Amino acid sequence: MDKFLIRGGRPLSGTVKISGAKNSALPCLAATLLTPETVTLRNIPYVKDLITQRRLLEDLGATVLTPELRTHVVNAKNVDTFEAPYELVRTMRASVLALGPLLARFGKAKVSLPGGCAIGTRPIDLHLRAFEALGANVSLESGDVVATAPKGRLVGAEIAFEKVTVTGTENVMMAASLAEGTTVIRNAAREPEIEDLADLLNKMGAKISGAGSETMTIEGVEALSGAEHDIIADRIETGTFIVAAAITGGELEIVDCRPDHLTAVIAKLREVGVIIEETSPTSLHVQLGLAPLVARDVTTEPHPDFPTDMQAQYMALMTQAEGVSHVTETIFENRFMHASELVRMGADIHITGNTATVRGKTKLNGAPVIASDLRASASLVLAGLCAEGETLIQRVYHIDRGYETIVRKLRSVGADIERIKDEQAFNADV
Ligand code: UD1
Repeated sequence: MDKFLIRGGRPLSGTVKISGAKNSALPCLAATLLTPETVTLRNIPYVKDLITQRRLLEDLGATVLTPELRTHVVNAKNVDTFEAPYELVRTMRASVLALGPLLARFGKAKVSLPGGCAIGTRPIDLHLRAFEALGANVSLESGDVVATAPKGRLVGAEIAFEKVTVTGTENVMMAASLAEGTTVIRNAAREPEIEDLADLLNKMGAKISGAGSETMTIEGVEALSGAEHDIIADRIETGTFIVAAAITGGELEIVDCRPDHLTAVIAKLREVGVIIEETSPTSLHVQLGLAPLVARDVTTEPHPDFPTDMQAQYMALMTQAEGVSHVTETIFENRFMHASELVRMGADIHITGNTATVRGKTKLNGAPVIASDLRASASLVLAGLCAEGETLIQRVYHIDRGYETIVRKLRSVGADIERIKDEQAFNADV
């Protein structure tokens, strides 16, 4: 397994280009299963999760061409199996996004039930109940979810999610696009990735309105066609680089991003004392102010509030702020695994229930640490960049799931970070 070696204490400086959003590219790739025609997706980030999603499409019988590294041209005319195997679902929970499109187009789908993961149990019961509401029969057979549409086609329905679910909303959007009649989703997720998927589906001929609000209406159509689409910028990668500039006392120009997709993160970081200027609708200038950073509480909530996917990075920053902050996680249980690793580096963090109390400012010292999930790994990289001495991060395959060429990008703005290669592993920094 690859490791990262970081020698901390260097302020970052320069320009960083943001990649396409992993969490948008995943459902958009799944949506290509809805049509026998060709769909071209550009700005797909070169990260491990997207390679897994591509493999899933190919396993199902689709052809995927990559005329350029970040462009996928998908044709799912010859899909002849309807099953996402455990081997893939186990490594990437987002494989459940194949369920909605397969069920809608072919009337049947089988996807292994995702097991527990590092950040909690993460069930898919809400997805399954929504498919039932659309007329599907859903059963569990030897660890697999088997779903069928009795008359071959789903039927539009009113679906009120009891909890906001991002991939659950996406699965229903895709399934309902080919259903007979109208579907209304209430308490829908409002993430920018939902709007991006709706944009793609509407280009393919779907009739979706209200994406980005709590209520979405989808008028089912008989068939969907091919389309071309550019994936939006990754707002979590953007937020991570903002924190990287601040935690190292550096200055970064962040380009090809969408500041309007992370207003809650930008507002919170400004409150803490980071100077963030929107230099254009797609670029940001970030630098640390002259005054010390101040501790501020944060609570994760569904979009448009502060995202759970920025919680770990924010906690790393709070170790460098003066005062006491409370970081409360409301989306996932057990999403504080980075805290104990940050403590090993010198942070003062205590967990009570779903709240972490961070006392700052503490000096961080380099240490060997272990990455436990995607965003936890990002927080350890940030802490390593700010720490004195060497930090060795193990199990960086987590970070390779979602951050494109992170070592190359950080080195280009002055970080002293290197990948210690395991020759057998995925090479994310080609
Ligand atoms: C997506 C994102 C992930 C992000 C999360 C929350 C993708 C590929 N991943 O994950 O990066 O951290 O949104 O913003 O887009 N839940 C249930 N039953 C269900 C579904 C969800 O109880 O059927 C619960 C989950 O356990 C969690 C909450 O609902 O507590 C929200 O999860 P959800 O929005 O579904 O997360 P994902 O879509 O898996």
